[in-house]
Amino acid sequence: MPGLINPGALWKIVRAGHPRARLRATRDGLTAVRLHLGAAAVETGLLDSLATGDATTAELARRLGAVDEELLTAFLRVAASVGLIGGGEGRPWRLTARGRAIVEDDLVRAGYEAFSGLHSAVYREMATLLRGGERRRDMAEHGALIARISQGFESLVMDALARTVAERRPRRVLDVGCGAGLELAVMLEAAPAAHGVGIDLDAEAADLAERTLRERGLSGRASVVRSDIRDPSARASGPLAEPFDVALLANVIYYLPMAERVPLLRDIAGLLNPGGLLFLVATVATPQFFSRHFDLLLRAQEGRMELTDADGLVSQLTEAGFVVDRPRPIAPGAPAVTVTATLPG
Ligand SMILES: C[S@@+](CC[C@H](N)C(=O)[O-])C[C@H]1O[C@@H](n2cnc3c(N)ncnc32)[C@H](O)[C@@H]1O
Repeated sequence: MPGLINPGALWKIVRAGHPRARLRATRDGLTAVRLHLGAAAVETGLLDSLATGDATTAELARRLGAVDEELLTAFLRVAASVGLIGGGEGRPWRLTARGRAIVEDDLVRAGYEAFSGLHSAVYREMATLLRGGERRRDMAEHGALIARISQGFESLVMDALARTVAERRPRRVLDVGCGAGLELAVMLEAAPAAHGVGIDLDAEAADLAERTLRERGLSGRASVVRSDIRDPSARASGPLAEPFDVALLANVIYYLPMAERVPLLRDIAGLLNPGGLLFLVATVATPQFFSRHFDLLLRAQEGRMELTDADGLVSQLTEAGFVVDRPRPIAPGAPAVTVTATLPG
């Protein structure tokens, strides 16, 4: 019957090698190809360009600076086959709802960029890394992308953060490693009388934070410092010189070597008023796939980074002088926790 696999051929497929593993390899492979296709559609500027208006292949070649129109056509056809764009076959190319979601939602865009880039590069480089090859420098080279992808935690953490901050009615709030500044904005919105300070060593991330504050109408109540929180002069002068009532350390602690974590927490304690609160968010070491992957990614970096487990976090906070509440998973079973810790009054 047309359309059905002949039973003899099917039997051969089922008997050959490891049929399930073959299926899995193909499925994983095609998912990886789709990921890279999405990333290429972002990185070539294709999706952004179609967001400004439909275009023929020739017009797109002009907009993207493509010199090989045949290759571009083949690329456009693949993008259309997975639904990122529509049109072709004599009609102008256009953005589909699926393509538009990448253009309009920066977390989707950052997902394609980060997973096709730094998150998978570690495996492409694993053989070299294992033989002592140069470590990765993702924080230095992709700081802004890491800050953007970190926004994925946002919805799971923001409610708890806003509630905690609102209860405290702080006068001053601090966001250490503020990245894109979304948490700083949420803290300021939860505490309308507060002034906020964000600090980030990545200049591009600090620019993103300033943009977020501007867009949310909070620029007048906040400042962003471009510096390493470990630098004593950054802590002793400027916007950090006066003490804070609440500090946030979200998705930052594992970028420091283990030996520097208690000193960092002590530095933060030194920036807080007596009775001040630290709200910490961190992915922790668990046997789950993402936790193991992230730990490997950290260990592949310059600078001896790694994940610690939730008990390790509690010990470090206690050693730094905080009274620590029980870590709570950000979602049931998630390998990331929030921890609140207070300084004695
Ligand atoms: C993964 S991002 C997290 C951003 C944000 N806190 C969030 O949760 O969305 C980590 C940020 O911490 C910053 N960072 C790392 N170490 C730092 C340090 N020692 N001082 C200041 N910023 C730091 C990085 O530049 C980066 O923007």
